[in-house]
Amino acid sequence: MDKLIINGKTKLKGEVTISGAKNAAVAIIPATLLINGFCIIDNLPNISDVRISCKILEKLGAKIDWIGSNTIKVDTTNVCITKSPIAMASKFRASYYLIGSLLGRCKHAEVGLPGGCNLGARPIDQHIKGFEALGAKVTVANGNIIADADKLVGSSIYLDMASVGATINVMIASVLAEGTTIIDNAAKEPHIVDVANFLNTMGADIRGAGTDVIKVNGVKELKGGKTYSVVPDQIEAGTFMLAAVASKGDVLIKNCITKHLECLKAKIIEIGANVEEDGDNIHVWCNTRTKRTNVKTLPYPGFPTDLQPQLGVTLSISEGTSVINESIWESRFQYTEELNKMGAKITAQGKSAFFEGVESLSGAPVYATDLRAGAALIIAGIIAEGTTELYNLEHIDRGYENIEEKFRKLGADIKRVSE
Ligand code: EPU
Repeated sequence: MDKLIINGKTKLKGEVTISGAKNAAVAIIPATLLINGFCIIDNLPNISDVRISCKILEKLGAKIDWIGSNTIKVDTTNVCITKSPIAMASKFRASYYLIGSLLGRCKHAEVGLPGGCNLGARPIDQHIKGFEALGAKVTVANGNIIADADKLVGSSIYLDMASVGATINVMIASVLAEGTTIIDNAAKEPHIVDVANFLNTMGADIRGAGTDVIKVNGVKELKGGKTYSVVPDQIEAGTFMLAAVASKGDVLIKNCITKHLECLKAKIIEIGANVEEDGDNIHVWCNTRTKRTNVKTLPYPGFPTDLQPQLGVTLSISEGTSVINESIWESRFQYTEELNKMGAKITAQGKSAFFEGVESLSGAPVYATDLRAGAALIIAGIIAEGTTELYNLEHIDRGYENIEEKFRKLGADIKRVSE
């Protein structure tokens, strides 16, 4: 078992370059199944969720060549298997995109129930509602989701909630359907726009991604043959912004889309730190003890749930008592128990957590309870007095590329050891 050993009390200083977005990449890779030919995907984050997605596609018959550490050439011409290996699919959440992609390509999909972080109940009823509206019959048997259709026909789908996964999955499934599909109450996250841009580059006709109504005009085929570069990861960028604030550091975050980070920028300024944008770069620095605030997580453009634990670390040492209300996931405060082991004073009750700011944290053995909790605990280790040992690194490796290397370049004393 690997662990991270972090010697703390470091003010992060320097520059960090942001990788491609995990949540766009894990949808774009299965979406290549719609292409009749090859495509090249660039700026892919080299993380375990991406590597597993590629392995699953290879099992289905795709040919994947890594032509650089962040670039793949995918040829899906010979894909003929519609049943994904159950054990691989259950390793990560985004395996649900295989259902929309295989259904769109072959009109048949058999995919293991998705796994991933334990954030509470994670139903996929809205995905299924969308597939059924397009004409598919969907059943669940022996740990598999099975979707079948004679043909897919465009339809109007109103999502009960603005689900990121359902929006992308129904969009993917409808690209090759007959006629027009309208997805109403669609989610608007940047990675939805990125998946739509990828599909359009390959020959799809999708309009309105990034608004709450997406219109997909079905096309006969996607020819591919093009290169697409994945959008920068706004959650990784936000993680480093909050690490700069919490450590009272001074960090230039390069290769990000500043528009995607407006909500976080406003929060950081509100609690007393500084943010300056310059093209694709964001400069974040902090010279004083940050102040309390209240936050509610919301779908984009609201405050992202995927940055909630990282903000939680900052608020645990801010002056006064802050409140975070988590409105997306029911179990996203597990990290607060780990932070309390480091001297934080946090009380989590249902959807809310109360952060009574302490002067400082102290190192302790802690466990990453999920991906973003893991990132938050790295930040906590960097700012704490003494040594932190962080376990369950597989969560972190699913979503952050070279995270300890990136923090080391900013001055953190952090190393990975195998036990
Ligand atoms: N929901 C349903 N039914 C559905 C789909 C969703 O009730 O059919 C509910 C969920 O239970 C949740 C809410 O709707 O309460 C939003 O879920 P959504 O579908 O938007 O989430 P997701 O697609 O499963 C993606 C990201 C998550 C991120 C959320 C919210 C991927 C692979 N995952 O999950 O990312 O937290 O959107 O922004 O894109 C992470 O990266 O750490 C992560 C967990």
